[in-house]
Amino acid sequence: MALSDLQCRRIDEKLAARPGGPSVYFLLHLQSPAGAADLAELIDAISVQKTELFRDESQLSALRTHVLEPMVARMHRPLRLWSAGCATGEEVATLLVMLAELGADPGSTVLGTDISETAIAKARELCFTSEQMQRVPPMVRDRWFVPAGLGRFTLVGHLKERARFLCHNLMDMPYPRAEEGQGFDVIACRNVLIYFTPESFEKVVVTLAGRLAPEGMLMLSAAEPLLRAPPVLRTVRCDQAFFYARAQEGALKTPSATGLPAVAPAKAPESPISGRFPAVGATKPPEPPAPVQPSGPHLEADALFAQALEWAGGGEASPQTADTLRSCLVLDPDLAAARYLLGLVLEQRGALAEAAEEYRRALRSLEEGRARATPFFLNNARLLVACVRAVERVERTGGPFPQR
Ligand SMILES: C[S@@+](CC[C@H](N)C(=O)[O-])C[C@H]1O[C@@H](n2cnc3c(N)ncnc32)[C@H](O)[C@@H]1O
Repeated sequence: MALSDLQCRRIDEKLAARPGGPSVYFLLHLQSPAGAADLAELIDAISVQKTELFRDESQLSALRTHVLEPMVARMHRPLRLWSAGCATGEEVATLLVMLAELGADPGSTVLGTDISETAIAKARELCFTSEQMQRVPPMVRDRWFVPAGLGRFTLVGHLKERARFLCHNLMDMPYPRAEEGQGFDVIACRNVLIYFTPESFEKVVVTLAGRLAPEGMLMLSAAEPLLRAPPVLRTVRCDQAFFYARAQEGALKTPSATGLPAVAPAKAPESPISGRFPAVGATKPPEPPAPVQPSGPHLEADALFAQALEWAGGGEASPQTADTLRSCLVLDPDLAAARYLLGLVLEQRGALAEAAEEYRRALRSLEEGRARATPFFLNNARLLVACVRAVERVERTGGPFPQR
């Protein structure tokens, strides 16, 4: 992990509180079975377990329309999903409900894994407070959740049975497999890799890609664009989100108007078929409001950004990608997403001082409320967090860099 100053302080405090302080013996103890509880405590001190039911609705809506619906319609078999870094289980519950709403095969499963044993123990309950349930539309709640006392709700029994949980560190091999050693149709690894060093990020993505079924999809959060997608993955851009498909000739590829790769148009969901999860007609959460349509220079800036994003997503942190982003920023200096991406490209090219400067400028326009949001990248709140982390990261690697 690329630890923030706060996380380093937390570790230091925990270590300082131990008799004898940090030592090589304590390190050996942590690596032994006897040290499991101490290790778990340290992991919990630094892991960020923030999560929500139906987190990032626009990305989930794209997942539903462009990935899950076509899979349900095409595959006629149980789907196998994995929430890697599932924290306290909200993402697992969300995916189970989405499968149920789409009428997926009732044998479909969702595996949840996390490094934190505490988080996994909580996740196994699949039980949520009324406050956590606030984002769940009442009709969806009534259909797929039951009261569990003290104002809490739990998933209905037949959905709960479809969840499996494991404590697993994404830095450890081997990775879990789906039932009968199959690959996963969808792996969601959202808001996990943002805390990793670039090397660990890359290693995990490659290993996750190896666990996808042919045509399987990897979903990262919008805060984690792949600058170097491994050859086995191909970027799939849809209206509100990116996915990474396990590369397979011809699958899901339809040319879009911009020449960017796009997913196949969503098929109308099949009518409910007996023996499937009961499909529900009109229970989809409402679509997010349509973004304000850009015009003039903003439209041109968006097109350049989309082009650069595609190159970057395809692994090209090239001077051309950086130049395209600079041209985009001439048209719209407050397109913070483009500035952040330019920072990532520069960082990857080893230009750390320049990268730090771009991250800071993106951060300033976000903090000052000037930044224009773009529909197919991080929302501004997430972008702000990503910029803060990016500044910390490059400063730690090569800084401090003087501010211009
Ligand atoms: C911010 S939560 C994300 C939860 C969920 N995926 C979401 O998007 O709402 C990040 C989770 O990643 C887990 N995590 C961090 N490092 C990990 C690792 N090396 N292996 C597995 N899980 C890890 C943390 O324990 C934490 O629960």
